[in-house]
Amino acid sequence: MKQLSNRQILLGVTGGIAAYKSAELIRRLKDAGADVRVVMTQAAQEFITPLTLQALSGNPVHTTLLDPEAEAGMGHIELARWADLILVAPASANFIARLASGRGDDLLTTLCLASDAPIALAPAMNQAMWRDSATQANIAVLKSRQAHLFGPAAGEQACGDVGPGRMLEAEDIARRAADLFQSRDLDGVSVVITAGPTREAIDPVRYISNHSSGKMGYALAQAAADAGARVTLISGPTNLPCPARVSRVDVISAEDMLAASLNTLGKCDVFIACAAVADYRPVAVAEHKIKKAAEQMQIALVRNPDIVSTVASHPRRPFTVGFAAETRDLEHYARDKMTRKGLDMIIANDVSDNRIGFNADQNQVVVFWPEGRQAFAEMAKSQLARQLMALVAQHYPHARAAAQPSS
Ligand code: CTP
Repeated sequence: MKQLSNRQILLGVTGGIAAYKSAELIRRLKDAGADVRVVMTQAAQEFITPLTLQALSGNPVHTTLLDPEAEAGMGHIELARWADLILVAPASANFIARLASGRGDDLLTTLCLASDAPIALAPAMNQAMWRDSATQANIAVLKSRQAHLFGPAAGEQACGDVGPGRMLEAEDIARRAADLFQSRDLDGVSVVITAGPTREAIDPVRYISNHSSGKMGYALAQAAADAGARVTLISGPTNLPCPARVSRVDVISAEDMLAASLNTLGKCDVFIACAAVADYRPVAVAEHKIKKAAEQMQIALVRNPDIVSTVASHPRRPFTVGFAAETRDLEHYARDKMTRKGLDMIIANDVSDNRIGFNADQNQVVVFWPEGRQAFAEMAKSQLARQLMALVAQHYPHARAAAQPSS
């Protein structure tokens, strides 16, 4: 079910005894990496509470169409656009009828009308209601509109009848939902990216830092998430918004960044060190603002830990990628850095060309790995990030296979 990683699933819950199974379904979808938002009809709330589904999904549950408070948060049109899939489970006979007739008389039917996302239905109802010619006609209409039908299963029903109408089990529904999505390069892979500058405090109001904008690291995070990865972005201070479907850990200093990076090991498959880490920090941070006095002053500095080489030498090391900014002998210095830091791959750029510096939207790089190299033309960082993640995705499975002990 790796194709569900990072997918945005709008789960519609309608009124029926099978609504209790929606709780388990949310679990399954979330375990597979999906982001789930729940919309409940009024009847559904007679069977299970919004609070339960809110706790399980980790998102507010949407229940009404004309709720000014909800509209101020994520409005219904935004929610309709947000969804990669609308999955209605359980789908009652009444909901199926309202959907087939194109009604928009509550939030869920309105979302189905307003969204371009595919719609999948897991019907749940009494066997006689399922067999009824009106329901069958509605199902035929919905199928003709490309709705996906998951089930129903046949068997013993809550009312004591035996026959078709039981909702499929949560596991089965989640697997069928996953099958609706194409697989991507990094489905289910955990990617950790460091980005931006670090700030090393001198006193409570001053610090040492650099001009890194974080743009390249943020673009990589976005590209990795788009390729299906579960992305953690460990970011020094930047002005950039967190990319969609990425979880960001904000840090200030190199030591914070190291601690946050080590924290991910064990659940990190690919580590990309894109941050411009300050190489040194003040030996001591003054407790109070330093007052000016003498004409000259010195600040004693001490080397910061090297984050990427600490990660690369860890017993639970992920596939580790670093960056190298050089002004001459690009290949020589980059390969040397890759070996010294124990990296699997290094992305090098020539910073003597100031068009592709820290704040630029373009970049031009050459990537080196032990047995090869690939040069990329100058392009937008967002486009380059997609190509770099595709290259990482090509190499990561080989590295993982090579690391497996042979049986
Ligand atoms: N890096 C790191 N921790 C540090 C310093 C650097 O993780 N304390 C990572 C960067 O994120 C980048 C790579 O190491 O992936 C860059 O290495 P670095 O030795 O800092 O390269 P340059 O900045 O090019 O410095 P120099 O050539 O002076 O060694």
